[in-house]
Amino acid sequence: MGELGGARMSVKVELHPRQAEAFSSPATELLYGGAAGGGKSFLLRVSALRWCLSVPGLQAYLFRRTFPDLRANHLKGPGSLPDLLAPLLAKGKARWSEQRGEFRFAGGSTLKLAHLQHESDLIKYQGAEIHVLLIDELTHFSESQYRFLRSRVRLGGLKPPGPLADRLPRIECATNPGSVGHAWVKRAWVSPKRPQEVWRAPAGEGGMRRQYLPARVADNPTLLAHDPDYLDRLEGLGSPALVRALKNGDWDIAAGQALETFDRERHVIEPFAIPDHWTRFRALDWGSTRPFSVGWWAVSDGDDPRLPPGAIVRYREWYGWTGRPDTGLRLTSAEVADGIREREGGERIAFSVADPAAFGRSDGPSVAERMAARGAIFRRAANDRKAGYQEVRARLRGEGDNGPPMLFVFSTCTDGFLRTVPELVLDPHDPEDVATRQEDHVYDEVRYACMSRPFRRTAGPPATPQRDRWGRAFDFTQPHGWRVA
Ligand SMILES: Nc1ncnc2c1ncn2[C@@H]1O[C@H](COP(=O)(O)OP(=O)(O)O)[C@@H](O)[C@H]1O
Ligand SMILES: [Mg+2]
Repeated sequence: MGELGGARMSVKVELHPRQAEAFSSPATELLYGGAAGGGKSFLLRVSALRWCLSVPGLQAYLFRRTFPDLRANHLKGPGSLPDLLAPLLAKGKARWSEQRGEFRFAGGSTLKLAHLQHESDLIKYQGAEIHVLLIDELTHFSESQYRFLRSRVRLGGLKPPGPLADRLPRIECATNPGSVGHAWVKRAWVSPKRPQEVWRAPAGEGGMRRQYLPARVADNPTLLAHDPDYLDRLEGLGSPALVRALKNGDWDIAAGQALETFDRERHVIEPFAIPDHWTRFRALDWGSTRPFSVGWWAVSDGDDPRLPPGAIVRYREWYGWTGRPDTGLRLTSAEVADGIREREGGERIAFSVADPAAFGRSDGPSVAERMAARGAIFRRAANDRKAGYQEVRARLRGEGDNGPPMLFVFSTCTDGFLRTVPELVLDPHDPEDVATRQEDHVYDEVRYACMSRPFRRTAGPPATPQRDRWGRAFDFTQPHGWRVA
């Protein structure tokens, strides 16, 4: 390797062979992934500079999930952007604007350093025209965040010089396995084809030329020369799965996946008409600026051979989001109550549970009280997080090792359940609980639903849930759907 850019403006770098392969990849949706220390972030920086220095007017965006990571990883120390660009910065051929968070080059191209620290940051990129999208630590992003960013990738008015034309616009990502996005990244790049193969992604997924190039620690001689103990330190991480993931770039682990036993093949079923005599109930996790999740559940009587007696089926969902991850519809409790009743069309709901926060009062009636006034009556759900996690897991696992599961989801639950639940990760500080700072509203609702019908304790007749005061108030006086079982 040698110089990036042309005669007027260039920077010298040396790439290791694996990095060089990624650098010259013909793919337009590249994942350079695998082991920690494999030189991935460095490669992204070098690639960003190549595009900015060789195509005047080009707009490149380098993303990390959070702002502090962005700084620490790309703006500090040897091999960072300021370090690589030092000669150009000194000559004024590249400038850093702290305010705009971007490098601007003499040819009019820009490299913007971007992050999605807060969900609301996504909106900043709504109108962006991204010619080269670089994402570091892709598994820290959710699939919908990625899809959104990818939808901003277009050529617009840019006219790249001949030899580069068919490589733009493009996406280059780098990542370790693990973290929130492990499952979807693996599904999109790693599982479908052999490493290094370049293939056309399905039209519904952008239709770009996709490629997965594995990177191992051994592929980065710089690191091992400067820090020979690095591998030993990785070994010291503890969890063997995490060590394998970070050291070898092994994707065949459920690194931190909270519900790794969830399996579309086993748990997702095509919709069918729920028999009238099945018990139906609903669960709610309230939210306004963040999404709410309403799940409608039915309890199998065992007549359908696929669904053991007592198995619960999530047959409908209403996920209160705008279509942007973790962003709520900001509906009032009355509007949600009306929406719930409307979707039910008069079906008989035996009981309903809602998160304790819905019962909180700051000024005036609680959310639950307001909803009750419109005919959607909820009682307080059991909210022991760890017990709930165990219940959800027990239901997903089902009876014995190979028996059918005790929890099913209709394939129509795509907005909430199927998008968010499989991606949830464990709390890194507490392997017995799901981490809280993620899009976990459906999971919480599922947890309340499971806690309302404990699977482990159904040997006898199911325990009758405690009537709450709304039950006492309405039980015998109101039409169906109002009772509390
Ligand atoms: N080709 C290279 N030349 C010089 N230093 C490199 C090169 N590739 C990687 N490095 C350095 O090796 C270290 C680890 O690389 P990095 O890209 O951060 O790894 P990763 O992102 O895969 O964990 C960093 O200090 C980086 O600057
Ligand atoms: Mg890195």
